[in-house]
Order: sequence, then structure tokens, then C-alpha cells
Amino acid sequence: MNTYAFILGRKQLLSIAELCSMLGPKAKIIDIVPEALIAELPEPLAHPQESLDRLGGTISIAEIFHQSKKEKSAIVPAVGEFLTTKFQGRPNKLNYGVSISSFTERHEEILKKTLISLKKDLVEAGLKSRFINKNFKNVETAAIHGEKLLKDGAHITIIQGNHHYFYGNTVALQNLEKYTQRDYERPGRDPHLGMLPPKLAQMMINMAGKTPPEEKIPEHTLLYDPFTGIGTVLTEGLLLGFDVLGSDLNQIALDKAKKNIDWTTQKYNLLRPQPRLFLKDATHLTKKDLPESPALIVTESYLGPPVSQFPLPENMRKTFGNIRETLFRFFQSIRPLIKKGTPIVISFLAYKRKDRFFFVENLIEDVINLGFRAEPLIPHEISKKYGLKVYQRLGLIYDRPDQIVCREIWKFTVL
Ligand SMILES: C[S@@+](CC[C@H](N)C(=O)[O-])C[C@H]1O[C@@H](n2cnc3c(N)ncnc32)[C@H](O)[C@@H]1O
Repeated sequence: MNTYAFILGRKQLLSIAELCSMLGPKAKIIDIVPEALIAELPEPLAHPQESLDRLGGTISIAEIFHQSKKEKSAIVPAVGEFLTTKFQGRPNKLNYGVSISSFTERHEEILKKTLISLKKDLVEAGLKSRFINKNFKNVETAAIHGEKLLKDGAHITIIQGNHHYFYGNTVALQNLEKYTQRDYERPGRDPHLGMLPPKLAQMMINMAGKTPPEEKIPEHTLLYDPFTGIGTVLTEGLLLGFDVLGSDLNQIALDKAKKNIDWTTQKYNLLRPQPRLFLKDATHLTKKDLPESPALIVTESYLGPPVSQFPLPENMRKTFGNIRETLFRFFQSIRPLIKKGTPIVISFLAYKRKDRFFFVENLIEDVINLGFRAEPLIPHEISKKYGLKVYQRLGLIYDRPDQIVCREIWKFTVL
């Protein structure tokens, strides 16, 4: 079976959107629950870790080895059989961990019963073993790494699906350290220019692209960022295998982007030509700026002035007005320069007070009138089938708890 569970990151809808775009038409989504998306792929993942490294919104990938009715009594036999078959005859002790996902009941109670019975069954089967769960809680990612479970042991994830329990053997884990390094160790940081988290940049690129995570990006696929800033989209694009091109109206930003690109190229030994960066107002682009039309555009525009408290209504109106004006003129200027169907994934400012969001108004309709189509980031049939809380707007939100400044992510294609 080529069925895999993709364990979703914190912003689950964005993670689902990324997967819907990446998995492609040959994959079949068979279930979506709050913490996981389960899909049958046309082929087994040959290099699951490499595939996962390309997905900003997925925390781990587990290969599904069994599916059962939603009865708790089915859990121990299913996991026991998998472990005894896989590790039969192993001379040294087996270290393993079990985590559960999307169960409505308390995890500790289920895990306690499961781990204790499982241990007995494994002893009876002649397998020396030790579970590494602490206090009958799910296993932390650091412990899975530390105990080398993916290489020498096993980490089992049990997911409560809508109709079944799914049992998965974890085959890849997100390398958080690498994302942190890319975010904090790059030389050209600048909070005033806005700092798109590398994971989000990766997700946005994947929402625009169509290459499944197990395949290489076709050579010379050009990704353009017209509001380059410190170059996060460009560095993540390079790492994914795109050729990149960037512009900004601020030379200081471009210098920082160049430093970050050089740092990334060296650190990851990328054998790619030095990308072209040019100084340009994105509201006045011409054919000279884009002699080659890009295959995809991924960008984050101005996020407004830094705020420590919720802006006054007149300030909010002014900031939204500026953003609306700039983005409208950007869409107008890029429209004749790109080919039909070219995707543009863009993040722009939204404010949040408590649980209420405030959006740039009247922009989407105007962009549509310019000859673009606003695309749902998650196909309607998927949102409907799995009851996903997608609101009337087609954009999806990226926010952190207690943050006033948030991002709204939209995808457009040129008609
Ligand atoms: C929020 S930053 C982009 C952050 C960037 N994606 C990152 O984290 O690496 C927005 C950038 O847009 C640039 N900008 C604002 N208005 C612009 C315009 N009209 N044309 C081109 N660049 C513009 C600013 O100079 C700034 O560098």
C-alpha cells in the first residue's frame, strides 16, 4: 500500500492547502481530520525525508500499515503485530514510541492502556523492548530524533480518522533546526522589512507550484518575487530547485537579499547560477524587466508600519488604502507580462483583534476585474467533504496567538 499520513503543522488549513496543491491529481485523499491528512499515492515515497523537507506545513510523514474499525480493542493487536513482524529475531532491545492523533478522548488514558498491554504482548512474543513515551504522553519530536527511532526503532502514530483508525509507521520528521537556522542565522535580517517565516515561504511556493514532493522541479522553472525584501521567498525557492528572480524598490533590501542568497547557496552547496536582483517599483513593471515570463510569482507585500497595539480606525484605513493601491497597481502592471494560467501566490496584511480579523477591502474584486481568477487554496469539494472551516473569503490566514499583524494568503491565476 502507498498510503501515507501527513501530520499537519500548526496552521492546519494552510498545511492542507499545500498538500492539496503538491500531491497532484494522481494522489487520492482518503481522509482529513484536524491533525492529519491521509492520502494514497500512486507510488511509494522513495525518499520520504527529502519529500518532507520540501513541505513547510507537514510535521511528519507516517506510512500506513493498517486500518481498523474505530474500536479501542483493535489498537494493541494491530501495533503488536506490526512490531513483532518487523523486528522478529532482533537480538538487541527495541526502542519504540506510540503517539496518537485527533482522538477526542484524553491521550494519556488511551496511551497508558495501550503501552502497558503492548509491552506484555511483546514479551510474550519474545521481543525485548522499551517504550520511550514519558508519562504516557505523545512522544516529542526531539525524543524521536534522540532515540534514533526512525533508524533503529519505531515510532507508531495512531490516527482517529472519520471512519477508521489508521496506524502509521513514521518515516520522516520535520527538521525544525534547519528552519530555525534559515530564519535566524541568515546574515541579512531586518524586522522593518518584514520577515516571512521560511516555512510559510515554502508553503506559499508549493501552493503555486505543481510538482509533487517526490519529484524534482523541472529545470529552469522561473520563480519571481516582485517585493523581494530580504529574499526569503527567493532563498526557499532556490532550495526547492527553482531558478529565481527578484526585485524591490529598496536597494538596502536587495543588498540584504543578496547576502542571504549567497549564505544559502554556500551553506547548502547549491550549484545554481547567481540570481538576478533588480531595483524596481512593482507598480511599474515593463517587458524589459521580465524578458522571460516567470512560471510562478510568489510574494509578500508591505505589511504596514510596526504596531504594538491595535491601530486606530483611521490608521488602519490609511494602511489598508496604501496596500490596496500598491497591490492593485502591481497586478495591473504585471498582467500583460505573464502567460495565461501563471499562478500568483501573495501574502498581505490582515489585522486581528481577539478573534476578529480585519482585511484589506475591495482589492480582490478589483484584481478579478483586471483579468485574474481568485483560486480556492483548498478545492471546494475537499472543504465540503471534510467540513473544513474555510470562510467566505478564499484566502487563508497565517497568524500567531496574540499577534495583531497577520497575513492573508491568496492565490490568483491569470485568465
Ligand atoms: C514585507 S517585505 C517582504 C518580505 C520578504 N518577503 C522577506 O521576508 O524576505 C515588503 C518589501 O516590499 C518592498 N516594497 C514596498 N513597496 C514596493 C513597491 N511598490 N515596489 C517594489 N517593492 C516594494 C519593500 O521595500 C519591502 O522590502
